[in-house]
Amino acid sequence: MLVGREQERRTLRSLVAGARVGQSAVLVLTGEAGIGKTELLHDAVTAGEGMPVLRTTGTESESEVPFGGLLQLLRPALRYLDRIPAPQAAALSTALALRPGPGHDRFAVGAATLSLLSRFAEDRPVLVLVDDAHLLDLPSAQALVFAARRLTADPVVLVAAVREGRSSPLTNADLPVLRLGGLSLDASRDLIAATGRRPGPAALARLHEVTGGNPLALVELADDVDRLDPALFGAPVPVPSSVARAFGRRADLLSGPAALAVLVAAAADGALDVVARACHLLDVDVDVLAEAEQYGLLELAADRIVFRHPLVRSAVWSTTAPGVRRDVHRAVAAALPEPDADRRAWHLGQAALGPDEDVARSLDDAAERARQRSAHAVAAAASERAAQLSPATDGRLQRLVAAGESWARAGLPDRALPLLSRAAQLGPPAALSARITALRGRLAARTGSVEQARDLLLKAGTDTAARDPDEAVMLLGEAILACLFLGDTATALEAAGTIEGVVSRTSGEPARLVAALAEGVAGVLAGRGGPEGIRRAVAQVPADELVAADPRLAPWLVLGPLFLRESATGRDLLTTVVEGLRRRTVVGALPLLLFHLGRDQATTDRWGDAELTYTEGVDLAREAGQTADLAACLAGLAWLEARQGRESACRRHAEEVIALCRPRHIGLFEGWALFALGELELGLGRPEAALAHLDRLAALLAELGIVDVDLSPAPEVVDALVRLGREEQARSVAGRYSARAEEKGQPWALARAGRAVALISPDADLDERFGLALELHARTPDVFERARTQLAYGSRLRRAHRRVDARPPLRQALEALEALGAVPWADQAAVELRATGETVRRRDASALEQLTPQELQVARMLAEGRTTREAAAALFLSPKTVEYHLRHVYVKLGIGSRTELAGSMAERPAGES
Ligand SMILES: Nc1ncnc2c1ncn2[C@@H]1O[C@H](COP(=O)(O)OP(=O)(O)OP(=O)(O)O)[C@@H](O)[C@H]1O
Ligand SMILES: [Mg+2]
Repeated sequence: MLVGREQERRTLRSLVAGARVGQSAVLVLTGEAGIGKTELLHDAVTAGEGMPVLRTTGTESESEVPFGGLLQLLRPALRYLDRIPAPQAAALSTALALRPGPGHDRFAVGAATLSLLSRFAEDRPVLVLVDDAHLLDLPSAQALVFAARRLTADPVVLVAAVREGRSSPLTNADLPVLRLGGLSLDASRDLIAATGRRPGPAALARLHEVTGGNPLALVELADDVDRLDPALFGAPVPVPSSVARAFGRRADLLSGPAALAVLVAAAADGALDVVARACHLLDVDVDVLAEAEQYGLLELAADRIVFRHPLVRSAVWSTTAPGVRRDVHRAVAAALPEPDADRRAWHLGQAALGPDEDVARSLDDAAERARQRSAHAVAAAASERAAQLSPATDGRLQRLVAAGESWARAGLPDRALPLLSRAAQLGPPAALSARITALRGRLAARTGSVEQARDLLLKAGTDTAARDPDEAVMLLGEAILACLFLGDTATALEAAGTIEGVVSRTSGEPARLVAALAEGVAGVLAGRGGPEGIRRAVAQVPADELVAADPRLAPWLVLGPLFLRESATGRDLLTTVVEGLRRRTVVGALPLLLFHLGRDQATTDRWGDAELTYTEGVDLAREAGQTADLAACLAGLAWLEARQGRESACRRHAEEVIALCRPRHIGLFEGWALFALGELELGLGRPEAALAHLDRLAALLAELGIVDVDLSPAPEVVDALVRLGREEQARSVAGRYSARAEEKGQPWALARAGRAVALISPDADLDERFGLALELHARTPDVFERARTQLAYGSRLRRAHRRVDARPPLRQALEALEALGAVPWADQAAVELRATGETVRRRDASALEQLTPQELQVARMLAEGRTTREAAAALFLSPKTVEYHLRHVYVKLGIGSRTELAGSMAERPAGES
């Protein structure tokens, strides 16, 4: 019988009511042991009467079984497996060991979990209950978090209980939390009365005070209230431990065999047949458990032993001598049925006193099975334990590194790094040492110091060159990517040099492609040749699955074309690569690619797309804890916002970028943030403030030795100087910049140089100078840059008293800038155009601009002809959530059908998704 908890029960009822009208709800219950979390989950079932329930409970014994918790939860829904997107279904089937298959990105299982829940809930609302979530195996918990964060419009209520003070991915995910406190005095009285006891008011008050209204403590300590340790009053002894002590006192009364049987039951998590077999091995008759039942420590059900409370298990377990615990583990290991190899390995691991190669091997096998199912956290724990048990240094080293690699794949670098350090201290042989260095470098690149990443990757690549040239090229390529972020040209060239020496010995196509592209990029970065090599390499890329199938290649396939900034060369690749990764749910690789894709869109006429792309990249990078990628996507966003004149968003994002970049030495994006701030001021007509940022940027670039003209703010500096009347200085900046653009020889930089030079040329040369610049612009896809030149041209013509001639370029500029959404620049163009005597009608803000990024993204995907399900799969959302956003889109745009939607979206240039 449930007493009290009126407020909490109301909350649950309202969540259930919401689900019945298609609103998802997620709630994490926390509170100390015995406070009533499980009880409240039972109440949720009552509240959701008639709703199908999916449930799972974390248990200590299964916390090392790969996806054990998820399998239990999703079992009733598995019949829908073939109705979710095929790559997701494949990932989930492998994870749950339903089908063999290759490993997957750790987020793919999460995406599949969401799809399956959504599909299961398609016909009627569903209750999802997770008890003791802190004991779930980590891969299951991570998958649930991924799904929980995306539940929006599916009729699903997910309630998870987590014991306070225990860690779980569910409590670190910004999900709504309900913390349970103690029962009121009245409710406590009812609770005790229900057990047939009637304490007087004073005794009750004392009991309530001592227990803080913890229901378990109220019931278990009711008879002890006089004997309760006076130290408890007001002392910081947590209630559960006093309850545990009470259970412990009762356990002390058991006979020797009964106590041992209880221990076995605790270790085996209550499966009666296993307990019976293990007891037999320990020469104990399982029937003695009846004694424990009499003391109220547990109950014997048909095939299970159910403890009065989990605290009973921990109470008996924690007071047992280590030797006895090991005996019990050994017996349980031997008693487990054949298919339970994973649990057996785990128990054997706990049973081992010292190094034991056989046991370590069985843990290796368990780790390998987990790895194949992408249960990386489980694999890591098994390898880690195997390492502890390894008698020989060699085996220990291999296992430490394997554990480190698995923790890294599980997205938990903090658990990987100490193991790698320990391995490094053991004096690993060269090959293993390089593997350690490589992994450290890769971790640093994603989540730590990019500077460290560069050094480690360079070293790993160099050390690997003789043994494995293909891998060496990949590592050196990654070192160059780090250099790109750092703005470190010298090291990039050094790495490119090493690649050059190795490439002839590589055997794979991917390595050769990376070599060509990486060398090209390093060259461009250092202002030495480059474009030709990139162009050749890009031309060789087969436009197919090889490409989309290799996440290692992806950044290069995207970067190469970007570095060229030409309209025609390889830009379709970007979309192919990103689409491929989406299809295969390679979420971890996406943020970096989305960043590059966003950059491509932001330097064409697709600013709306760029904003979506950057925003998605920011969200995914945050979720995956990938700080360098986060800085990149945020920097792109800030720059875009600067051009859109969204002042506060731009400043906020630029600030966050700088805060992320400084400690990690990510010079490139600190530079972007400064560039963004400079352009923001320039757009808002504050050249002085703009110069301050741009000067800082120039100093930063000089300090880093970045000479790539594409990163130089010189044309903006010239613009600002001209506005301030500092012509002389502007001339010298323009002159130097133009010489460097000539060296690179790419149209984008040449066009910008052309504008800078034209801005300071005499009136008589305006047509020729601007004409040249505009011809160059025509060879690049960057509409904004072209419009800026048209604006500058028109403004100069007007000042040269050629008002009629000024109108066409100003009109073109205004039209392009308005279409882009470059508000402050469009304003400037309008002002100039009016000053020529023309009446200017400004375009109304498009209704599309009222859509949130996610609504816009959904609208874009559907307008391009995708079905709801296809859009959902690509965005890692459920179809219901896609429809939910679509309804908002309809309302905001005042339309009612997909045909109309396609029409509305066509107002803006179509793009990738
Ligand atoms: N509101 C309540 N009314 C009646 N009994 C309750 C209430 N809350 C809890 N109990 C009882 O108290 C005991 C402990 O509650 P419960 O098992 O739900 O705690 P818990 O928070 O799940 O603890 P743990 O963290 O150990 O899982 C149970 O026997 C339960 O039936
Ligand atoms: Mg509980």
